[in-house]
Amino acid sequence: MANLKLRARRMRISPAMRSMVRETVLTPNDFVYPIFVVPGEDVMEAIPSMPGCYHLSVDNAVKLAKELYALGIPAVEVFGLPEYKDEIGSSAWDMKSPVQRAIAAIKKAVPDLMIVGDVCLCQYTTHGHCGKLCGHYVDNDATLELLQKVAVSQAKAGADIVAPSDMMDGRVAAIRDALDAGDYKNVSIMSYAVKYASGYYGPFRDAADSAPQFGDRRQYQMDPANSREALKEVDLDVEEGADIIMVKPALAYLDIVRQVRDHVNFPIATYNVSGEYAMVKAAAQNGWIDEKRIVLETLTSMKRAGADIIITYHAIDAAKWLNE
Ligand code: PBG
Ligand code: ZN
Repeated sequence: MANLKLRARRMRISPAMRSMVRETVLTPNDFVYPIFVVPGEDVMEAIPSMPGCYHLSVDNAVKLAKELYALGIPAVEVFGLPEYKDEIGSSAWDMKSPVQRAIAAIKKAVPDLMIVGDVCLCQYTTHGHCGKLCGHYVDNDATLELLQKVAVSQAKAGADIVAPSDMMDGRVAAIRDALDAGDYKNVSIMSYAVKYASGYYGPFRDAADSAPQFGDRRQYQMDPANSREALKEVDLDVEEGADIIMVKPALAYLDIVRQVRDHVNFPIATYNVSGEYAMVKAAAQNGWIDEKRIVLETLTSMKRAGADIIITYHAIDAAKWLNE
């Protein structure tokens, strides 16, 4: 029987009451900000499909890292555009590549900012796939040893966390082994455990010059129609030694975030990807939506769904709004 004396609106009567009973409170501490580092010096070039995001040379990446830390954002995730590409993506583990140099420089300048290295090959291979090819097929096991090199090179540069985004089977265990063998036992693995083959990555692929030159990624990334498979991927990665579990993209997959949250006792991250960001920016630039309100509502929903960590290009704006 319903309690007819109960009026739910009493808990919404004033800002103070709403604040007292609020269940989910977003803070800058929830965010990871992704950056794109490029060769050269004093480069800060706007990325057209991601307004507010830039290609940054290492010197400017360091400046931005200081800004992130000052805003209370705890971590930066480093993506890179290399100086050269080849069949196997060997610039991905070159200590002289922008990513490795940026990791080292940021660690030196802002030691308390956490650094996440994105471990994949698609930005570094001529064909744009996330692994080593055998004909037109991405060879899973041959790719693992390359991913090990990438992870170790980033750990060596000073990364606190490595984040494999390639979706090869067995990569978490392989990377854990390589990190441990290299005496990087305290470097964590944030696994893109549940990564869907998504149209929402479009602007990122332009920004990172990482679109596959033939075919697509559906043989390794997940089918958007599946949710039981998400839990299977999570179980595998937990078994293999992942420290943090990621669901990607975020917005169209908040049901998955919730299921994963209820399934494991590990920190959950979700990636508010480039296409989600671009849609909000485009509508805001047209004056069709209230950007601040929409962004904070969206990010709050990700946290409410169960994410402990939100990787988002909105991090700087959102942190400024939250700090107001
Ligand atoms: C590459 C990678 C992608 C993203 C992060 N790492 C795209 C892809 O799988 O093609 C997407 C990020 C975004 O869209 O913001 N492994
Ligand atoms: Zn990739």
